[in-house]
Amino acid sequence: MSLLQGKRILLAMSGGIAAFKVAELVRLLTGAGAKVQVMMSESATQFMTPVTMQALSGQTVYVSQWDNRIANNMAHIELTRQIDLMVAVPASADLIAKINAGLADDLISVSCLARDCPLIVVPAMNRQMWGNPATQRNIAGLITQGIEILGPTSGTQACGENGMGRMLEAKEIFAGIQAHLQKKVLVGKHVLITAGPTYEAIDPVRGITNRSSGKMGFAIAQAAVEAGATVDLVAGPCHLETPLTFTQRIKRHDVMSAKDMQAAVMQCIRQQRTDFFFAVAAVADWAIKNPADEKIKRGLSDLHLEFEPNPDILKSVVDHTGSNPKPYCIGFAAESHDLEKNGKDKLIRKNIPLLIANIGPETFGLDENQLLYIEKDQQHTTSRKDKISLARELIEYISTKA
Ligand code: C5P
Repeated sequence: MSLLQGKRILLAMSGGIAAFKVAELVRLLTGAGAKVQVMMSESATQFMTPVTMQALSGQTVYVSQWDNRIANNMAHIELTRQIDLMVAVPASADLIAKINAGLADDLISVSCLARDCPLIVVPAMNRQMWGNPATQRNIAGLITQGIEILGPTSGTQACGENGMGRMLEAKEIFAGIQAHLQKKVLVGKHVLITAGPTYEAIDPVRGITNRSSGKMGFAIAQAAVEAGATVDLVAGPCHLETPLTFTQRIKRHDVMSAKDMQAAVMQCIRQQRTDFFFAVAAVADWAIKNPADEKIKRGLSDLHLEFEPNPDILKSVVDHTGSNPKPYCIGFAAESHDLEKNGKDKLIRKNIPLLIANIGPETFGLDENQLLYIEKDQQHTTSRKDKISLARELIEYISTKA
């Protein structure tokens, strides 16, 4: 069943050309079973009509705090009670400033102040307005109030300029709302994750890498922050964006080689208490012993590369003896054959409590996967599903282990 089934969501629309995206958002939310209530500022009605929003949401749309269709004339109280989540979308620079200052001079601002539910703010504005220190101060203020900010992103703007301030697309906002509603099973926990491939240089322009996309590790990072954790994400070279939601709780470290990855991981382990370590990266087993300082010219009749073994990052964490307590360590395996036997051997060899084996035939780069959980005394298989769903299940599974 969808997490949104039966959830009551209040959408507060302030003025902005991005308001048209909210029509699609309402469809996505109601399609997933949520009950959506819309309120609009006067200026929002310049961009979308209350009739449109009412038809899509199936609920009366309110614009004024003096609307006498609310029996006790207290729209700001009536509309913000028994609500699971309020979303200000689009949130103009003016609305963001008002929420930060605690002003309450129209229906939306007074409702933000009077609400007793979480608030997500989805900014939309011109790049100069977004970059203005006043707006940035206000955004920082909202974050300290525990308000979640979704976006903005960079791109072409309605005014013809190009830059940061463009509102996220309806699908991305929908994903952000789903993320927000996940169970908060890792509040106060710190998670360290390695993800993606490593790259071992042969010379300044060539190297050896593998086909890991990083998708599973990034999905685990997203699921962990959704669950309330703070995350250090140590990523090998991959083209994935850091998850869009709760970005202030993810610290990304981009690395190239296995040695760089090990250095970044061990620094994190030494710096702070880590509750969980997910070794998801497909780390190269070997590095080139003496990579050339200059590009190796073609035309050589023969080329010999000498290899040396890379450090085992997972093992260095398991064996680490520092003042911080040891994290609960989860290893990953992509085996080509004898999955169960090789997985079990790896669990024992690595001295870890949980090993997750990818059930082939292929996983690299795909959005879906099927996993085999291997523990000392038990094992179970998941169904095949998208990596974010698998990651959310995994986070819930391990949440009680540390
Ligand atoms: O040693 P092997 O590659 O079979 O084990 C895979 C697991 O060990 C994965 O969790 C991987 O991230 C981790 N690993 C590591 N450092 C290495 C090799 C593997 O952390 N050098």
